[in-house]
Amino acid sequence: MKLGVVILAAGQGSRMRSNLPKVLHKLAGKSLLAHVVDTAEAIHSEHTTVVYGHGGEQVKVAFSQRQLEWCEQKEQLGTGHAVMQAVPALGSVDSVMVLYGDVPLIAEETLNRLLEAAKETELALLTVTLENPTGYGRIVRDAAGRVCKIVEQKDANATELAIKEVNTGIMAINRACLEKWLERTNNRNAQSEYYLTDIIELAVSDGVDVAAVSPVSEEEVMGVNDRVQLAHLERHYQHDQSEQLMRSGVTLADPNRFDLRGSLITGRDVLIDINVVIEGDVELGDGVSIGPNCTLKNSKIAANTKILANCVIDDAEVGVASVIGPFARLRPGTRLAEKTKIGNFVEIKKSDIGVGSKVNHLSYVGDATIGSNVNIGAGVITCNYDGANKFHTIIGDDVFIGSDSQLVAPVKIGSGSTIGAGSTITRETPAGKLSLSRSKQITIDGWLRPVKKPKDK
Ligand code: UD1
Ligand code: CA
Repeated sequence: MKLGVVILAAGQGSRMRSNLPKVLHKLAGKSLLAHVVDTAEAIHSEHTTVVYGHGGEQVKVAFSQRQLEWCEQKEQLGTGHAVMQAVPALGSVDSVMVLYGDVPLIAEETLNRLLEAAKETELALLTVTLENPTGYGRIVRDAAGRVCKIVEQKDANATELAIKEVNTGIMAINRACLEKWLERTNNRNAQSEYYLTDIIELAVSDGVDVAAVSPVSEEEVMGVNDRVQLAHLERHYQHDQSEQLMRSGVTLADPNRFDLRGSLITGRDVLIDINVVIEGDVELGDGVSIGPNCTLKNSKIAANTKILANCVIDDAEVGVASVIGPFARLRPGTRLAEKTKIGNFVEIKKSDIGVGSKVNHLSYVGDATIGSNVNIGAGVITCNYDGANKFHTIIGDDVFIGSDSQLVAPVKIGSGSTIGAGSTITRETPAGKLSLSRSKQITIDGWLRPVKKPKDK
């Protein structure tokens, strides 16, 4: 059985009041459409076709790396019309699942249940019972409880309007039947649209038993029409992720103040304080603790390392038992060995720092290779950029760099050397010696401090 997925995304999304197409808005750092495309992949869709509308070129560009077919629906003549446009692009699939580009949280597990139900018959619907069903198509069942049709809000009579079971829009259909039924739909209804939902009545008239399945949570089938709904789904999603993390053994100081926009792999006994944002792919080893107000992106933090408050860490690797921060910034290409210490107001970029080395205060280290057991004093700068090109700094093992020194790259600091405070180092320093560049201290006798002139009256 080959499955094809049609993702409807031709809607304007005008209530977002945005220059960005609605399905490109992000939930947990990933576009709404990417959530749906990933779920289609997870249920092994062989052909995924996105139906896009006016201005959808931007969406196509954003997904140019993905295996997708694209189908433009020039005029929005209804959901049935939209699916009809997509069917020719489906190749040789035997069954079709209809999903929505603005319904991001539909769960793989729910769709698998829907597919199971569709195996028994030609058509399976995802329905949900809502306290307030206003706006949705109502599921009309016969006396025996069998689904007989869907009536849209605008076409419904008073009895039908009282029904609380509604159509989510998501369904799985036998491909041949879908084509046959779509051909028989028309637009003679209150909205003059071709309704996908009309195929239910056609299926029933062909003697098909229509199956109905429900999602686990309402949020799975909620659409995003405005930014209020987007925020609601974001919180729901974050809450779910936080709960999974806590159940897997992570302590979150406050699950309401933790955001994961990507994937997080954790060891045992990881502690995460408030207002931490994790982006991309992050790994935290056993016993790692993250202080408040930290952002970590595409980084690996090894076991027993402490990230103190207010650090920004991006594309970095930190070895075991290190201490980073507070207020440290690790930029892309930072590789720290074990037991390193990076202190406050220190920026590290594209540098390797060896075992037990310390950069404790107010330094910039960029394009450097630093050995083990090195102490970089306060305010030390690697001058890696001459305004046109970047150059490398190499520092051997057991080096001590005095405070407020500048290392003008390219430059090499020999192992065991000591650099006197306030030095500007432009040439290689020999191993095991003290090097410094410092103008002589002088004292001026008889110098007087200026005094304030008396004011003229
Ligand atoms: C539709 C269903 C309704 C269901 C509701 C769930 C029909 C006729 N009605 O209602 O039973 O309760 O969804 O939210 O199917 N779209 C296109 N092209 C079109 C029309 C729509 O791509 O020509 C897309 C929209 O971008 C949107 C989705 O289909 O993502 C649903 O369209 P929308 O108009 O929001 O749904 P309703 O007609 O209100
Ligand atoms: Ca509509």
